[in-house]
Amino acid sequence: METRDFGRLGRVSALTLGGGGIAGVWGGTDRDEAVATVHAALDAGITMLDVAPSYGVDAEAERAVGVALRSRPAPDVLVTTKVQLPDDEERDLVRRIRESLRDSLERLGREHLDLFLLHTYLRPADGSPAPGALSWAGYRDEVVPEFERLREQGTIRAWGITGIGHPRGVVEALAGTPRPDAAQVVVNALDLTGDMWAFGPDLEPANGEIHRLADENGVSVVGIRAVAAGSLTNALDRAVEPDHPAAVDFARAEPFRKLAAVMGETPAALAHRYALSVPGVATVVLGVKNRAELAECVEAEARGPLSADELKAIAELR
Ligand SMILES: NC(=O)c1ccc[n+]([C@@H]2O[C@H](COP(=O)([O-])OP(=O)(O)OC[C@H]3O[C@@H](n4cnc5c(N)ncnc54)[C@H](OP(=O)(O)O)[C@@H]3O)[C@@H](O)[C@H]2O)c1
Repeated sequence: METRDFGRLGRVSALTLGGGGIAGVWGGTDRDEAVATVHAALDAGITMLDVAPSYGVDAEAERAVGVALRSRPAPDVLVTTKVQLPDDEERDLVRRIRESLRDSLERLGREHLDLFLLHTYLRPADGSPAPGALSWAGYRDEVVPEFERLREQGTIRAWGITGIGHPRGVVEALAGTPRPDAAQVVVNALDLTGDMWAFGPDLEPANGEIHRLADENGVSVVGIRAVAAGSLTNALDRAVEPDHPAAVDFARAEPFRKLAAVMGETPAALAHRYALSVPGVATVVLGVKNRAELAECVEAEARGPLSADELKAIAELR
């Protein structure tokens, strides 16, 4: 598998195994299949695993990765996890960061973490409302200094943010200092943000601008939502109401499925090849839930980037 530059963390595989799928967030799987999927990912040359305490029941993603890495030690594989810090009245963000990291490391069976990500949406400095988001002051004065301390003491090697949330909040974090090492950014063929968009119709997602700004500021871009929560695949294999964003996006993606058929690709394979072809993406996180879906993505990666004509045909569908 191709490897790419990831700043402070050195080289990373073009594909990262995500924790959502193996923890059952995207439909049925189980612990044995999750562990087998982690092992298959390592066999395929994947060198980064992206989990979070909130993926699955009782932190199943972290537990499954912990079991997989204990049964087959892979000291060089990079592990990321996250911390959720809604700006509620509880505050004491530093204590909550430390406790969350301690519990994650215990589940993962590791003494240090390679990349620690803020999993909470950011509110811009002007205080614009954003549901469930962290205030700018909480980010700047408590979260960032603590992440920097953890990095200096070696408990984490790098830190980053989730590039969703109020676009101005994300932009301010990417332009400010100390700067995140990485940002998870929505990158998909039709620029579908789906149910990750929490700000209603009066505000537009700014995934492209966020990606550009991350590149300009040397922040490694971790591409998420390559198949737009399943909307860019052949079928959603979980039940969603017809007005759910994933169902709406799935219907909108019909021309994409037709184009994939013309190109001789499955929609999921074409969607992953697209995300891998976008300049500046350091790694694309997979939402796969089993070895079969993983294999399809790994085979797609092996076919290399899309041509300029293929990218143009996709751009015309937006
Ligand atoms: N920082 C954050 O806030 C954040 C947010 C989102 C994700 N992430 C990371 O990104 C990872 C990926 O999640 P995502 O939200 O970006 O989801 P995604 O990959 O866009 O979508 C996951 C969906 O894709 C489908 N899928 C993937 N590969 C497939 C294949 N080869 N064949 C058929 N279906 C396939 C799965 O099944 P179906 O199509 O069959 O349903 C699943 O429902 C997460 O696990 C996590 O690590 C981070």
